[in-house]
Amino acid sequence: MPAEVFGPDYAFLPKDEILSFEEISQLVQTLAPLGIRKIRLTGGEPLLRRGIDDLVGLLSAIDGVDDLAITTNGVLLAHHAEALALAGLNRVTVSLDALDQDVFTAMNGVGAKVDRVLTGIRTARLHGLPVKINAVIQRGVNESEILPLVRMAREEGVVMRFIEYMDVGETNGWNMKDVVPMADILETIQSEFPLKPLDPTEPGEVAKRFRLADGSAEIGIISSVTKPFCTGCQRLRLSADGQLFTCLFAAQGHDVKQLLRGESPDETLRTMVSSLWSQRTDRYSEERGQGNPPRAEMSYLGG
Ligand SMILES: C[S@@+](CC[C@H](N)C(=O)[O-])C[C@H]1O[C@@H](n2cnc3c(N)ncnc32)[C@H](O)[C@@H]1O
Repeated sequence: MPAEVFGPDYAFLPKDEILSFEEISQLVQTLAPLGIRKIRLTGGEPLLRRGIDDLVGLLSAIDGVDDLAITTNGVLLAHHAEALALAGLNRVTVSLDALDQDVFTAMNGVGAKVDRVLTGIRTARLHGLPVKINAVIQRGVNESEILPLVRMAREEGVVMRFIEYMDVGETNGWNMKDVVPMADILETIQSEFPLKPLDPTEPGEVAKRFRLADGSAEIGIISSVTKPFCTGCQRLRLSADGQLFTCLFAAQGHDVKQLLRGESPDETLRTMVSSLWSQRTDRYSEERGQGNPPRAEMSYLGG
């Protein structure tokens, strides 16, 4: 969690208000027939949840789930990589906004070391996990890191993705002036590395993908602010306490914990989620700046 959200007085939820691993996997198993194919464990920091590889094991065994990923800050990745790979994880996304330790510290503020994250990335690859790196670019903060990150992606054999800085939650003091648009990120990369555009590999893909012209690395840009992609969004989010959200920017979720803990048949849950999904109207990013209501924090809903 960012420092603005987490502090000494932070009230953790009582354990019984958090979905158990069995409940999470029961939900996925029940909903898989509706077309859920891809699962991403995010947060908060998913590697802080004790026994996370047990959850990976349960989810990877579900029929129909063919892509199981995790998004992590990478700090504990070296420690967990082998168990995650053995449990059936398909791939890892690591958030790394800068290679320069001072810039990284200023952005992340939790005393994490770049070297430790790099060791996590290498360990994950050693255990056969493909790695993507996410870097959120903020004006005047880490634009200078774009080229070093691309060079690192070539050396480490990872996919590099740059994300436009978004106005998630109510605490990050976001301002449009802080956003580095996709066009500027591309211009910076192309000053050293010519790029070739790649076709999307699947519907709803959020990143515009490119390959360095020398073939050495893949680059993706997620232009959620300057070119929102609400129309193609296929993501349903589940919070740790059992709320489903149909948009990253939604203010409110829809409770499934009661249904999971009650006697309702699976069909009731499927009907509830089907109608929630088919009736959703969220398209926050396309309506940005038009008096939208307060939103949930990203540390609660995941990126
Ligand atoms: C919220 S984090 C949670 C998972 C994990 N703790 C981590 O650090 O990767 C998920 C992703 O959201 C991205 N993210 C966080 N704040 C963002 C913002 N304001 N705009 C765009 N992306 C953001 C992060 O870079 C990260 O890749």
